[in-house]
Order: sequence, then C-alpha cells, then structure tokens
Amino acid sequence: MGCFSCFDSPADEQLNPKAGGGRYGGSSVAAAAYGGGGGSGGGVGGGRQGERGYPELQHPMAAPRIEKLSAGAGNIRAKSNAIAREASVPKDSNGNAISAQTFTFRELATATRNFRQECFLGEGGFGRVYMGCLESTGQVVAIKQLNRDGLQGNREFLVEVLMLSLLHHQNLVSLIGYCADGDQRLLVYEYMAFGSLEDHLHDLPLDKVALDWSSRMKIAAGAAKGLEYLHDKANPPVIYRDFKSSNILLDENFHPKLSDFGLAKLGPVGDKSHVSTRVMGTYGYCAPEYAMTGQLTIKSDVYSFGVVLLELITGRRAIDSTRPHGEQNLVSWVSYSYH
Ligand SMILES: Nc1ncnc2c1ncn2[C@@H]1O[C@H](COP(=O)(O)OP(=O)(O)O)[C@@H](O)[C@H]1O
Ligand SMILES: [Mg+2]
Repeated sequence: MGCFSCFDSPADEQLNPKAGGGRYGGSSVAAAAYGGGGGSGGGVGGGRQGERGYPELQHPMAAPRIEKLSAGAGNIRAKSNAIAREASVPKDSNGNAISAQTFTFRELATATRNFRQECFLGEGGFGRVYMGCLESTGQVVAIKQLNRDGLQGNREFLVEVLMLSLLHHQNLVSLIGYCADGDQRLLVYEYMAFGSLEDHLHDLPLDKVALDWSSRMKIAAGAAKGLEYLHDKANPPVIYRDFKSSNILLDENFHPKLSDFGLAKLGPVGDKSHVSTRVMGTYGYCAPEYAMTGQLTIKSDVYSFGVVLLELITGRRAIDSTRPHGEQNLVSWVSYSYH
C-alpha cells in the first residue's frame, strides 16, 4: 500500500493540540474514566454511549470542542468539497485511482426504497444504516446515511472513504462506494448478513442461540488478523482507534470484518513512538494511557482488543450501567475478581 499522507491531518492537530471531543458526544474517555468535570460537551458523535445514557463529560485538559471544529473547518470543508468535485476519479497521494464507486443520492434512495423502515439495520453515532439493493448490479449492500449536522461527520466521512479505499484485507469490511451529493454523505459497504458481534453477545432475544465457544474464538482470531494487517502490514501503519464489538461485523459463517474507519489515524513513523491527537474512541474500550495523555500508539488498539476478548469470554458488556456498582466496568471488574 502506498503512502497516503493526504488524510493524516497534522495541521488540524496543531491548530488545537489539546482539543477534546469524541466519538460519543464530545464526552471524553479520560474524563469519564478518571473523573473529569462534566460539560455540555454535546456533539456530533452522539452515538452509542449517548443511547445508553452514559454521562457526557469534557476532557479535563481539553479546549472547548467548538474551537477545534472551527479552527479546522476551512480545511475540512476544502477537503470534502474536493472529494465532491473529484468524485468521479478520486486519487491517493501517489496518484493511483481509488477503487470506490460514486453514487448519486437518487441511486441510493432507490436502493433502499427511499430509506424505508423495513430496510433499517441499525443506528450508530454518525447516522443510520440501511440494507439496500443496487439497481445497476442487483448487489445487496449496507448504506450508512451520515447525519447532516456538522463538520466532524464530514471529516470522518472523508477519512473512512480514503482509508477503506486503500486498505484491503479479508478481515476488513469492503467499501463499495460513497455518495457526496450536495450536503448528503453516504457510505456503501458490503452487506454483512449476521450484523455486529455486539448483536450476538448482548441482550439476545429468547429465540436466539448464544454464540458457541469455537465461533467466539474464530471471531477473536479474525478480528486480530484485521488489526495485525493495520498495524504490521499497512505502510505506514494505521491505528484503528475504535475497536469494539459493535464494529466487528459478521457474515453468515461468522467470519468477522472490522468496520467504521472514521476515527482511524496513521501511526507513528521513523523513531516516533506515538502520535499526539485528540482523545477519541469509545468509553470502556479506550486505553487508559491514551485517554490520559492523548498519546496514541498501536498498543491503544491492543488494549481495546483485550476488552473485546473479555466480552467474548464473559458475555458481559464493556460498560454496563445496569450492573451493581463495582461491576459496571468490565476491565475493573475482571481485574478485581482475579486479583
Ligand atoms: N456493512 C454492514 N452490514 C450489515 N449491517 C451493518 C453494516 N454496517 C453496519 N451495520 C449495522 O448497523 C448498525 C449501526 O452501525 P454503525 O452506524 O456503524 O454504528 P455502531 O458501530 O455504533 O453500531 C451496526 O450495529 C450493525 O448492526
Ligand atoms: Mg460501527
């Protein structure tokens, strides 16, 4: 894989080196994990934490998130305009054509029968996901329609398109294409028939059989291979930053693929040990040292992998506010139990 420095954004980071905000409504992993102060924090991420009612907190070291967004806004707008303009033949930094197709909004509305409720698959922090059938090829796909409420989603759209256009592995979900029509931003993925690992681990309906042990291990091994590809085979290495059970998608044979690359970041190169960045990720999965310092390394993903492994072994959620005090955070509970 060639160098694709165009979607690393050191300029953004330098503008607001300590700006906070995150995947889940501007809440900070550091603040949440280490008792930082509360804040209005709201944000584009929204997402699963919000759905489950986790507190929205602000990074104790962070400048208000709005500063970060406004400072980077011109840059992000320019990049996303460039994507829309260059939509027909996007290129990576080496000038190689990126394989993802472009779709018009009308094509994707037709594919999902106007985003009909029966086609709805699920909703995450950035938008709603629908099953669709492409009229041109008959291919069944999953279409994520991003919320149109902010620049942060635009940035993640751009990162996801570029990352998934350049990274290819049997344990990464394939991006079939995207739509950047006007202010619409949609991503078109291969359809993963068994949904996410989270759907198979937690809150199972009575008629659904729990995953057997060998499927759990197969999923863990496949997800690990996806991470290994990002860390050791991609050049420069890629730090995923959002490894969690809801981002591990399964096909009808329980073959796992990592999805959601909007937070991915190019890893350190040369003699650098880390990249300094805003703290982003998902509460319960984020490595404590990254949450505290903003210094991101490949090992941050390995920590999150460990959390998913614990979920697979125990059947418990990474964070479960319905459990008694002391058992709500899976890592703390396991550490305490096996001390
Ligand atoms: N490619 C896909 N194939 C099938 N289902 C998908 C696909 N992508 C996402 N989904 C479903 O849509 C849900 C929402 O996805 P997403 O927006 O990525 O949010 P999250 O990762 O927070 O769950 C997922 O949990 C999954 O059930
Ligand atoms: Mg996801």
